[in-house]
Amino acid sequence: MVPVPADRRRVFSGIQPTADSLHIGNYLGAVRNWVTLQETHDCVYSVVDLHALTVNPNPADILRRTRVTAAQLLAAGVDPDRSILFVQSHVSEHAELTWLLNCVTGFGEAGRMTQFKDKTQKQGSEGANVGLFDYPILQAADILLYDAHAVPVGEDQRQHLELSRDIAIRLNSRLGEGTAIVPEALITAATAKIYDLQNPGAKMSKTGSPTGILELLDEPKVLAKRVKSAVTDTETTIRFDPENKPGVSNLLSIYGALTNRAPGDIAAEYEGKMYGHLKVDLAEVVVETFRPIREGAQALLADPDELDRILARGAERAREIAGPVFRRIASRFGLLAPGTPGTPCTPGTGARSTGAR
Ligand code: TYM
Repeated sequence: MVPVPADRRRVFSGIQPTADSLHIGNYLGAVRNWVTLQETHDCVYSVVDLHALTVNPNPADILRRTRVTAAQLLAAGVDPDRSILFVQSHVSEHAELTWLLNCVTGFGEAGRMTQFKDKTQKQGSEGANVGLFDYPILQAADILLYDAHAVPVGEDQRQHLELSRDIAIRLNSRLGEGTAIVPEALITAATAKIYDLQNPGAKMSKTGSPTGILELLDEPKVLAKRVKSAVTDTETTIRFDPENKPGVSNLLSIYGALTNRAPGDIAAEYEGKMYGHLKVDLAEVVVETFRPIREGAQALLADPDELDRILARGAERAREIAGPVFRRIASRFGLLAPGTPGTPCTPGTGARSTGAR
């Protein structure tokens, strides 16, 4: 195992097992950065199954998707020897810390989260459950439990990250400095929001129409077809202009991100060519980027016992961090530590040192 230097800053991020495949938005907006950050940071990544319960999935679906999601993360380059990869529900402190954070979060504050408002608008407030309302508080607990400094996510998570920061700042001011690390969002501008191929005004989403998304586990033929049928516009010039040409610009952003080039430079190479040329070439790049991930994930899924062992080891390592951090925060709240006769009467002093950075 490669040792992680003690002075490295910690990163935490999570992904929900809400689909049978991740899509290119998840990959470019988050997962690809997770892989790169392993070079410089102490990384903790989680398949956040408790969050996924807020949409009331069929139990068989969430079970299957938890393994499928983990397999894709590993195949995309999350290295379980260098990073911690685990399933959220395997570390009970996530739910426990959520309760403590619930008690310092305002009802109005939680109600202002736009993702909650959008989802309840779609489902109607009768269809929404309390878990959906509490979703961002559970997300804050995920982050604060690991004393994470940075959280790599897509643009859609910015508001949730702001709430996590506000909660951390509040804990420090009410319960004393050093109660929580205030995390920063790491959002890569160029890939912060990948758009739906059929509706380039909307974010690509696991719950969008299947023809608008490019899934990591799709067969090459399916991927090529989806790229080729992406909505463009009635002009013929290839130009990077997200405001006036959202469809073509989304394709150029994806192409640029996958080949590490600026979308405008790619557009310049296609001067005088047709949209079809761009699409054929992009389809090839997408297929070849996803091929090793699809094949790697399939190989991992063929041996679920080994996959479960990797996740069990990840949970064990996650608990080693989350346990002491939870006890530190709980003791600041004044909760009596279990089984420690002689705990002093001053809140916070009963916790053992956790090496919070
Ligand atoms: P989830 O599973 O919906 O999305 C996982 C990651 O993918 C990013 N993403 C996108 N990025 C760019 N373009 C898109 N079209 C696109 N769609 C999704 C998301 O921003 C996310 O980074 N709430 C989180 C899960 C979570 C979490 C956490 C994240 C739970 N606890 C703690 C960070 C830290 C979510 O919705 O993931």
